[in-house]
Amino acid sequence: MPALVVVGAQWGDEGKGKIVHCLAEEADCVVRYQGGNNAGHTVVSGGKTFALHLIPSGILVRRAHNVIGNGLVLSPRSFMEEVSALNKRGIRSKGRLHVSLMAHVILPYHIMLDILREDGGRGLGTTRRGIGPCYEDKVARIGVRVCDYLEPDTFKALVDQNLRIRAAELSRMKPLSAIREEVFADYARLRGFLAPFCRDTSVFLAEHLAKGRRLLMESAQGAMLDLDFGTYPFVTSSNPIAGGAAVGAGIAPSAIRGVLGVTKAYTTRVGLGPFPTEMEGRMASRLREIGHEYGTTTGRPRRIGWLDLVQLRAAARTSGITSLAITKLDTLSGTDPIKVCVAYRYKGKRVEEFPASRRAQMECEPIYENIPGFAGDIQSVRRFADLPVRARRYVLEVEKRLKLPVAIVSVGKSREETIYRDRRSVWG
Ligand code: IMP
Repeated sequence: MPALVVVGAQWGDEGKGKIVHCLAEEADCVVRYQGGNNAGHTVVSGGKTFALHLIPSGILVRRAHNVIGNGLVLSPRSFMEEVSALNKRGIRSKGRLHVSLMAHVILPYHIMLDILREDGGRGLGTTRRGIGPCYEDKVARIGVRVCDYLEPDTFKALVDQNLRIRAAELSRMKPLSAIREEVFADYARLRGFLAPFCRDTSVFLAEHLAKGRRLLMESAQGAMLDLDFGTYPFVTSSNPIAGGAAVGAGIAPSAIRGVLGVTKAYTTRVGLGPFPTEMEGRMASRLREIGHEYGTTTGRPRRIGWLDLVQLRAAARTSGITSLAITKLDTLSGTDPIKVCVAYRYKGKRVEEFPASRRAQMECEPIYENIPGFAGDIQSVRRFADLPVRARRYVLEVEKRLKLPVAIVSVGKSREETIYRDRRSVWG
């Protein structure tokens, strides 16, 4: 009865969507356990490109069930739009997409608060989807859960209460009556659309596990955007690390048998905050263009950096990563030498562990080692042994230094452009 967690080992956008799409063929159920429609999972399936935000990437694999767990925040409007858009492209969700009754609901005022705070100079660089304010309500115990949203009287009472609580801030944007109107505009239609998908997904998943079925747990964002272990406060408001999977899906931690960490062959970050190995200039622009490094959700250009082993070691520790998938190795082709950060220097001292303090995270300097680069088109390679020797050496160096097996190497966007070194061991 194994559950495999697929975690982003960096700052998100590592290519988890593609990896989940590859592994979903072997899963009975794909489960999102945190975040919301701030995520952007680009998946190429059957020659078509899909940008998924809220719905698990397993929706593109016909046999898999898909779960939006209790740990998510869900905008009913985005949900309807995403499901409808998939439906138009021939991807059916009815009967195989399940939404937790305990997930929290993003309402228009959460989005307003997110925008108000970003425009007010808070400077986190959020996706402006209302994610943070919705999780704030959850922790403050005033949140609206899906089960509350489905009960019109409960929903109305909670909205009125919450608008009163948030009145001082919200009325800087619009009169409260106008906000209330926006919350209830289309309510009956949105509720009617959402209702058939909702159930107690913890019970559903327990039944799957009891029958020995395989769960693939899909994180959004990445370890360094984790609310507890990321570069706080420049983080998202949930826990992408593997521990979040048990809480955010309502499964037992003991069901988790393997944790696959997904890392790019280099590093990217969107939004603001520390990024020790960030590079600038021509090299950054080159990798940004070759790797199409623009946000799936917001279109923002991603910041680019070298691979950071200090940061990856932290991710491996906090998520208990058991194997790695390295993505976008093809993007590095033609880069020589390739730099890899092996430690930091802070206040004249060598630092091996990712620091907790925001100041240290901002001021630490990377210590690099050069690894010889490789050249040539590797997108058509399907066996590890067929990669250029220096490309193999790069992967093996990462493996050796992190003491983790690299089970999967991705050399292109589509599912076919993947090298499996040890597919079976991934599931643990
Ligand atoms: P929020 O999740 O919208 O509150 O944004 C908080 C931080 O997480 C910002 O730096 C965002 O850019 C970042 N973020 C949120 N979702 C993603 C993602 O899917 N990929 C990469 N960064 C993300």
